[in-house]
This record gives sequence, structure tokens and C-alpha cells, in this order.
Amino acid sequence: MPVKQPCSTTARAAHPPLPAADFARWQALIEQQTGVVISAQSQGFLQLALEERMRELGIFDPSHYYQRLIQGQGSAFEWSKLLAGLTVQETAFFRDPAGFDFLSHYLKQHPQQDERALMLWSVGCASGEEAYSLAITASEALGKGAAFGVLGSDINESALAKARAACYSAKRIAHLPGEFRQRYFSPSAEHGGFVVNAELAAKVCFTRLNVLALADEPFFNLDVIVCQNLLIYFRRERRFEILDQLARRLSLGGVLLIGTSEATGWQHPALAPAGAGAVQAFIRKQPGGAE
Ligand SMILES: C[S@@+](CC[C@H](N)C(=O)[O-])C[C@H]1O[C@@H](n2cnc3c(N)ncnc32)[C@H](O)[C@@H]1O
Repeated sequence: MPVKQPCSTTARAAHPPLPAADFARWQALIEQQTGVVISAQSQGFLQLALEERMRELGIFDPSHYYQRLIQGQGSAFEWSKLLAGLTVQETAFFRDPAGFDFLSHYLKQHPQQDERALMLWSVGCASGEEAYSLAITASEALGKGAAFGVLGSDINESALAKARAACYSAKRIAHLPGEFRQRYFSPSAEHGGFVVNAELAAKVCFTRLNVLALADEPFFNLDVIVCQNLLIYFRRERRFEILDQLARRLSLGGVLLIGTSEATGWQHPALAPAGAGAVQAFIRKQPGGAE
């Protein structure tokens, strides 16, 4: 199910339900602009997201907000605000333990052959936990002083602001092994919670990126790409297009890790399936990037 699930207590909009024709217009506009599919069951969440954003803007009539969007006012910023209300930013450190074990093993088996720093990418990184988990995994697998960098990207600016702040509550890191908490986090008197240590944080950077516009992005030669719990928002064909774009950006021997059953049936001529069971991964076996 692509969009936030309605739930009887949280998805109650203040206004009467949108007429069916208006809902269909919103569905079509949102899918056309963002790729996100709003099912009939998610109408309550669409309405809540619209009402919240309209309240912030001082707009009372959904049709006025609709006009504003199609006339391009605020464009990228406005769409990112609305999309933030429609998608879930839920995430966690090492959310997919089997996937991170697989990556750790992969990194140990594929030591860097040349001078180039290893590059890892968390696509749809939300508030940054996945990107920092990648950095911890690389740091542990490659050893002290290893040259690597992690890029985290997301469409949601407020999630990215949290990622850049690199400060997490005690609860969010409670499940990490004690040695990881000690090695990579310090208590923050200023912000409360725990900040990612400067040495690790310096290896991680964040940027705003819409996966539907990947074709315009300059990122290539990635050694590890992780794209989990993001493809669920899109139709099957769109998921496959996004994965084709990510595949183009892998270095030779680089690995793409996705969520199990998020893109069943996808394959790529230059990539070989890797991983098994709870891990769905692909490794680039042929040079390229121009396919
Ligand atoms: C459920 S979170 C997944 C976070 C992390 N990958 C994980 O698995 O824990 C989904 C993220 O995808 C982002 N997202 C949704 N649509 C996007 C798009 N078109 N381009 C980039 N990011 C998008 C959302 O903002 C959200 O932060």
C-alpha cells in the first residue's frame, strides 16, 4: 500500500470528504507530479495533508490550493511540503539488519582496489538513520582510516534538516550494540539526546533529490546504493524506471540493496542478483553506466 494508511483516529479530516470527482483530480495531479499513488483508502490522509498545508498557507478552499499548485506557485518547495504530508518518514538505525549484515560482508570481501574513496548512497534517507548506519557499517568493515563517503538523499527538506543535525534520542539508538553507541555517539547537553561523532558525521552528507528526476542527477560510480521503503509509493513501472536509473549509477562490482518484494520481477542486463532470503541485492557485473 503506497501512501500513509488511514487509521480511524488519525485520518479524520475537519472538512467533509472531497467529492469523488475532486478526489480523482487530486489523485491524477499528485501521481502526475510526484509519481505517488493515492489509493481510495488513503483519501482521508490526502484530505488531512491538504488541510494541514492549506491551514499553513491561509487557504480555505481546496480548489484554490489546487489552482496554486497547477499554476506552479512555489513549485518544488510546495510539492515537497505536500508530499511530506502524504508519505511516511518512518526509519531506524539498522532497520533491515539482514541487509546491513549482507553489506558488511560485501565490504569486507571487496576491499578498495584503487585510491578512490568508496561511495555509498542512501536513497530516500528520511531523517538520516540509514545513511549513518551505512557509515557505521563501512567504518566497521573497512577499518580505521578507511576512505569512504556516504550520501543521503530525500525529497523532504525537514527530514533532511534532522539528518544534518545528526542528533537522536536515547530511545532511537537504544537497540544499537553498546560498542557502536560508545564509538559513534556522544551525549549532547545542548540538544539533549545523542549526536553522531564528528569523525563519522564528516563522512556523511545530505542533499535534496526527487527520485523521479534521477536522470538529471550527476551521481555515478557508487559502490553501494541502498533504496528501501521508498519504491512502495510508486507504481510497478515507475519502480522499475527508478531502479534502472540507480543501476546506471553503480560502479563495476557495486551493489544495489532494495527491500524484499518492493520490485518483484525487476532485472537488469548488467546486474546479477545477489543476496538470498530476506536480502534482495544486485551486483554490477559489466562496466557501463550509459545503458
Ligand atoms: C519510509 S521512509 C524510508 C526511509 C529509509 N530508507 C528506511 O528504509 O528506513 C521513505 C522516504 O522516502 C522519501 N520520498 C518519498 N517520495 C520521494 C521522492 N519522490 N524522492 C525522494 N524521496 C522520496 C520520503 O520523504 C521518506 O523520507
